Amino acid sequence: MYNFKFHVPTKIYFGKGQISHLTELKECGSKVLLVYGGGSIKRSGLYDTAMGYMKEAGLTVYELSGVEPNPKIATVRRGAEMCKAEGIDMVLAIGGGSTIDCAKVVAAAAKHDGDAWDLVLDSRKITAALPIFSVLTISATGSEMDDTAVISDLDKNEKWACAAPCMKPTMSVLDPEYTYTVSRKQTAAGTADMMSHTFENYFSTVEGADVQKRLAEGLLKVMIKYGPIALNDPTNYDARANLMWAASHAINGLVGEGVSMSWPIHMIEHELSAFYDITHGEGLAILTPVWMEHILNEKTAPYFATYGRNVWDIRDEDDMEASRKAIECTKKFFFETMGLPANLRAVGITEDIHFEEMADKTLGAGKRAFYPLMKEDIIAILKKSL
Ligand code: NZQ
Ligand code: ZN
Repeated sequence: MYNFKFHVPTKIYFGKGQISHLTELKECGSKVLLVYGGGSIKRSGLYDTAMGYMKEAGLTVYELSGVEPNPKIATVRRGAEMCKAEGIDMVLAIGGGSTIDCAKVVAAAAKHDGDAWDLVLDSRKITAALPIFSVLTISATGSEMDDTAVISDLDKNEKWACAAPCMKPTMSVLDPEYTYTVSRKQTAAGTADMMSHTFENYFSTVEGADVQKRLAEGLLKVMIKYGPIALNDPTNYDARANLMWAASHAINGLVGEGVSMSWPIHMIEHELSAFYDITHGEGLAILTPVWMEHILNEKTAPYFATYGRNVWDIRDEDDMEASRKAIECTKKFFFETMGLPANLRAVGITEDIHFEEMADKTLGAGKRAFYPLMKEDIIAILKKSL
């Protein structure tokens, strides 16, 4: 296991009615920028509830609405300008990963003299941020408890992740009931995303990280158990609660620190989103089994076999056979049980014209990789995903 620092300063209020803790925002000042997406929080009544608690706390609320799925830099710039012009004290995101990510970079850009895009391209420039709060409405990215934000400039086909300790939220409210209204499509995509985060941490050649590996297997089992229940019974509290808490732990460092982290599937998916603006979790579901099949060999088989045995209860003693079965189980879960799109054509990508450029931009992700991908590998994975 590598040396690591594990520090999650985010205070979590988990469960029904925990939104009342929004009154604590007054400890950080009096002016809040409320950041939200396309309107789901207004339809669900969450907007009114949150406004009520902020009014009770005597806070003045400014609004940045319309944050896009795959949030755009132009929206971040709008938010940062408001923060600077109005002397905003803190940022509150109510929504999913896109809204929280946008709020994080707004909070950092509010403390930065140059353009917000500088921060997205170079995390070292993120040295300070306004306090960030979140109320999570979809279980997927783990942005509510991590240091990362992913922002796009779709005019330039760019989508990049940036990260800094100061972008870890100060407090996040996780009320599973707020995810009851999440659609089937987004519930499935969110489940694929949290599973992918777990895989990206789990498939590592670093020896001796048993705590991380066994915890990761436990998280995967929870996601595989409760994803289909949430899909078919959207107001099942236990299903929504377990998915919500599992998603936070898949990426908050618990199973990632101390092991190798090159996140190849995410690097490739971010290129797909940058060029085609697809739903992140759907792209990951399509790429994951293809990646597994592409890199399966004598060296990687023991890892995929362990995944199969510990997560899917596969009993084959032969590693290659157990691996093949594990990959089949993964495919069946994503494409049959969860109804996710099974190939790129199903999300509207029918040509390979940008694959070379995407592969060039993905390269560089090979440091500490489970299986270093060359340009030809990335192109082959993309072509097989069509
Ligand atoms: O915009 P609204 O109207 O709120 O609707 C959203 C949006 O259309 C809707 N939604 C959210 N909560 C809902 C709801 N609809 C009904 N009821 C609710 N309770 O769902 C749609 C998708 O929302 P979005 O925030 O885009 O989803 P998600 O949480 O999956 O976030 C995806 C973004 O996060 C990035 C992805 O790349 C993508 O840009 N990621 C962020 C990471 C991080 N910060 O660590 C890591 C991830 O790997 C990922 O890359
Ligand atoms: Zn993800």
